[in-house]
Amino acid sequence: MLEAAATLYTPAMLDIRAIRQQFPILSREVNGQPLVYLDSAASSQKPLAVIEGQREYLAHHHANIHRSAHHLAARATRDFEGAREKIGLHLGAAHSKEIIFTSGTTDAINLVAQTWGRVNLDAGDVVLVPRDAHHAALVPWQMIAENCDAIVEPIEIELQGERAGQIDRAAFTRQLQDLKPKLVVLGHVSNALGTIHPVEELCLEARNAGATTLVDGAQALPHLPIDVQKIGCDFYAVSAHKAYGPTGIGALYGRADVLDAMPPWRGGGEMIKSVSFEGTTFGELPFKFEAGTPHISGAIGFGLALDWLNKIGLQNAQTHEEALTSRATKQLLQIDGLRILGPATGTQKASVISFVIQPENAPAIHPADLATLLDNQGIAARTGHHCTEPLMAALGLAETGGTIRISFAVYNSFEEVDRAIEALKRAVNMLL
Ligand code: ALA
Repeated sequence: MLEAAATLYTPAMLDIRAIRQQFPILSREVNGQPLVYLDSAASSQKPLAVIEGQREYLAHHHANIHRSAHHLAARATRDFEGAREKIGLHLGAAHSKEIIFTSGTTDAINLVAQTWGRVNLDAGDVVLVPRDAHHAALVPWQMIAENCDAIVEPIEIELQGERAGQIDRAAFTRQLQDLKPKLVVLGHVSNALGTIHPVEELCLEARNAGATTLVDGAQALPHLPIDVQKIGCDFYAVSAHKAYGPTGIGALYGRADVLDAMPPWRGGGEMIKSVSFEGTTFGELPFKFEAGTPHISGAIGFGLALDWLNKIGLQNAQTHEEALTSRATKQLLQIDGLRILGPATGTQKASVISFVIQPENAPAIHPADLATLLDNQGIAARTGHHCTEPLMAALGLAETGGTIRISFAVYNSFEEVDRAIEALKRAVNMLL
């Protein structure tokens, strides 16, 4: 029996109404209906603290960084480097020089592939990538492997039963022993299924087998505390836009000794020590990986987004998101023929619910049809392969349009969950 949304309080005692007021977009209408935004795993909305903070910087303080000695340049440099410090602290890095600004997680992983990969992978070397990896964590390795005849192999995911969505640990252990991979890529949180993977244990096992480790943390950043030193990874990649920050900015954490040993990737200004036609020498960390003028306002916005999130409290956000996920899950499972992919409930799951609907004695409903009917009612959900085609193929969903995915952020309310479920029921009835 569900409690009425209006009587619910969030266990963390967050004032969700006040939080929502900080996100102007959440009070707009879509197709004549109040927006219910359930696509935060694709990109979260931005609070005024980020929007106004970036505007303030652009309107009053902008200059290029690390170059000129004038007042504005010094101020912009201070704010930009301040953002790097905040990100380093948030990720638990030992030093802010271990944080490289990138345009996002994809760019961060490509950086590792094009530098570490270029010098460390040889013919026959194995790179392990999970079956549920986002394409951004797989394709850069396929591209580099093609150049050097390295081999990219999947780490298998359990597809059914209580451990659905989790890594097949026995198979993983066997792969480490048999294949002796040079690199193990892991996802902290699956964007398609919401599984929270035990990256600390997995990295330890991979490291003991002699592998370098890279963790895609794009979906973890808005939901989980992250401590790269505790995780024990060599690389950790994040994007700001999934965590209430701007698009076009992200970061790569790399352990200093690993980054120091890597050659630069992009050449240009900012990343050099000295340049002559006879030869160029490169700068120190983190600058040797940051050629050209960076996305300064984006980096500042990224820092402000983390400030905002930390003010809310990650634990509070997590508690609220778990309550939203559990309320939605209970109601979804009452819909005839609805099947949730991956872990249904419990601690091994972030606030992502991926599902398909195949009512008894009726053909499966195409996720894209459902999404259109939801959109008509103001509900924003994502459908398709979620940039995880190998996973969808293993689940037998590659040819049937993938799944429909709803994902929550701290600004979502219980009322929105109920409205979305009612809208979904109406949509299903229209399609049957
Ligand atoms: N990675 C993004 C998602 O999961 C785009 O939707």
